[in-house]
Amino acid sequence: MTSHAEAETGERNFQAEVDVEGVGEYEDSESFLRLFQQFQIETECNSSKVLPPDSKMCCSRNVLRKQRNWEKIVAAKKSKRKQEKERRKIKHIEGTEQQHSKRVLKAIRKERLLEAKHAGPRLCIDLSVSDHMTKKEISKLAAQIRRLYGANKRAAKPFWLCVTGLLAHSSIQEECLRMNDGFSNYLMDTTQEHYFDLFPLEQIVYLTPDSEHALEEIDPQKIYILGGLVDESIQKKLTLQKAYEQGLQTARLPIQEYMIKDGNIKNFHSEILAINQVFDVLATYYKTGNWPEALKAGVPARKGFVLQKQQYTEDKKMSS
Ligand SMILES: C[S@@+](CC[C@H](N)C(=O)[O-])C[C@H]1O[C@@H](n2cnc3c(N)ncnc32)[C@H](O)[C@@H]1O
Repeated sequence: MTSHAEAETGERNFQAEVDVEGVGEYEDSESFLRLFQQFQIETECNSSKVLPPDSKMCCSRNVLRKQRNWEKIVAAKKSKRKQEKERRKIKHIEGTEQQHSKRVLKAIRKERLLEAKHAGPRLCIDLSVSDHMTKKEISKLAAQIRRLYGANKRAAKPFWLCVTGLLAHSSIQEECLRMNDGFSNYLMDTTQEHYFDLFPLEQIVYLTPDSEHALEEIDPQKIYILGGLVDESIQKKLTLQKAYEQGLQTARLPIQEYMIKDGNIKNFHSEILAINQVFDVLATYYKTGNWPEALKAGVPARKGFVLQKQQYTEDKKMSS
């Protein structure tokens, strides 16, 4: 025979066993509920044998209240599991979509690059001038090549890149391989040869800050050359001299034509940019046809140049 106290203890034990977390141990919430109901009937019957008739009602009410509570808990648990399942499903779909669009984006970029390979314009980084650089400068140059390559890959209208004078086992080659992930698989040409052995001389324009000609446009038929130099110790007119000796056309970015010096900033070499900054100007111009916008995109503020306002407004009007 079960005493009142035993019946109470039985209920308490049951309660302890099926606390909220414990519900989760029953794989199927329906079977858990059935188990609970069975237990509840047994408890009710046992209690009625020992309790006075009026206490039976009170006990049933108590059991009913508990049953309702448990039903709520089970229902909440069930809906939580359903939500969790939905969330996982959505996450899976989103992941697949993202992967898909990444793949599509990669394919589009590759197609644009290959188009530039056939139709131009071409941009070469001339590493034959990189001999006398310090270790630190070589690391900086490798980082600039990486930035330039990344920016070109993302560009709406990219150039076809070519790294010339890249000697096997040279410090710059080793630094590029060390610092730039996947360098040997970059979508560009790399060669030990010189640009002047690869292209017709009349198509080559050497970009140099010391040229007396301002670049006016980007012609897809031309091959533009950047000197693979980092000017920590300024090697003045090095590329200008070289282009002159080779009888090549030269051009500088039209900084003086569209920008003025902000009187407060002293920077005597402010027109000399890093190769990736020159590239940002070229790529923006090639996309927009707007020099002020292009110069704004590539000339860093610390160089101390600001756009000539009137010029900027006029050019903006013309390009829109
Ligand atoms: C850090 S600069 C080196 C400057 C160096 N004194 C020289 O003789 O070319 C690296 C390269 O970026 C390009 N560059 C930098 N500023 C330029 C500018 N304002 N106009 C045209 N090209 C520029 C040139 O091709 C240059 O060789």
